[in-house]
Amino acid sequence: MRGIVQEVIRSAIVPVAGWGTRMLPATKSQPKEMLTVARKPIVQYVAEELVRNGIEQILFITSRNKTAIENHFDTDPELARLLDSANRRELARELLFEQLHTKFFYTRQRVQRGLGDAILCSENFAGEQPFVVALGDSILGLHAESKAVARMVELFEAKHATCVVAVEQVPAEETSHYGIVQIADGDAGYYRVVRLVEKPPAGLAPSNLAIAGRYVFSPLIFDMIRRVKPDDRGEIQLTDAIQATCEEGKRVLAVCLPSNEKRYDIGNFPSYFETFVEFALADPEYGPEFRKVVERLLAAGVRKSEDKSHKAEVSG
Ligand code: UTP
Repeated sequence: MRGIVQEVIRSAIVPVAGWGTRMLPATKSQPKEMLTVARKPIVQYVAEELVRNGIEQILFITSRNKTAIENHFDTDPELARLLDSANRRELARELLFEQLHTKFFYTRQRVQRGLGDAILCSENFAGEQPFVVALGDSILGLHAESKAVARMVELFEAKHATCVVAVEQVPAEETSHYGIVQIADGDAGYYRVVRLVEKPPAGLAPSNLAIAGRYVFSPLIFDMIRRVKPDDRGEIQLTDAIQATCEEGKRVLAVCLPSNEKRYDIGNFPSYFETFVEFALADPEYGPEFRKVVERLLAAGVRKSEDKSHKAEVSG
């Protein structure tokens, strides 16, 4: 039976099974989610953010070529011993995330049929309980310091919602790269969602509020995903399943991310470069020195790339 709600949501699903084609060749043999932003792989920021937001168990939806993610979260006693015997305890401290009091689980999406299909792979894990979804290629807030997920969970419970999505404003000319929500009303930091469109054609977006990589769902979403027909690329879109939830008259809410908790979408190179530089400049240890390097390079007129004026694809 669906709908028995536990007191506090403690489980999260992190889909990391995608091809990452927009970031080839970097993603040819390593997961996009393992690319580093400053000192850590993207997916470590995602896990740390979730733990900071009260999550106690995380299921990664993986695929072939993604075993590096599993290895990253595993304890490595040999490396720990090496650092200990070499008296490099300050480096050993960098591995403390291995001891996060969080349980990690892994399951495979065998064929990459889109985000909706990836979430369907978590049905047994979720059981009858609501859960968080955090995209494995998106970080919320500088150094993942956002508490938006905890606020979304609180709202989900307080309003007996079926789904809560994080949204953020994007420029009108970029709406065709994102899932866009249409809202009915709202106050006190959240809105009621009445319609969602995945990558609306230019000029046809119902708003400029884009879904921003974090969701809270009741298990009803699994039935809604099963109703969705594949799009013209054969993918089952999660946005379409949330639209079906709206059509059922269920309560779907959106929380707008403030600018200091913005979403860093690492699915394309322009955004990856920007995120890397921003995080590296803000690094407490290496940031000040790196800033000088960047300033020196800019002042020296570092070789400019030819401006091909091509607009990078930034869908996410
Ligand atoms: P993207 O929409 O960025 O797709 O996925 P992608 O396949 O990774 O990248 P491109 O479009 O080929 O460049 C957003 C998140 O959803 C996961 C991805 O791993 C990423 O973390 N995802 C996507 C899946 O787990 N399964 C899928 O079938 C698609």
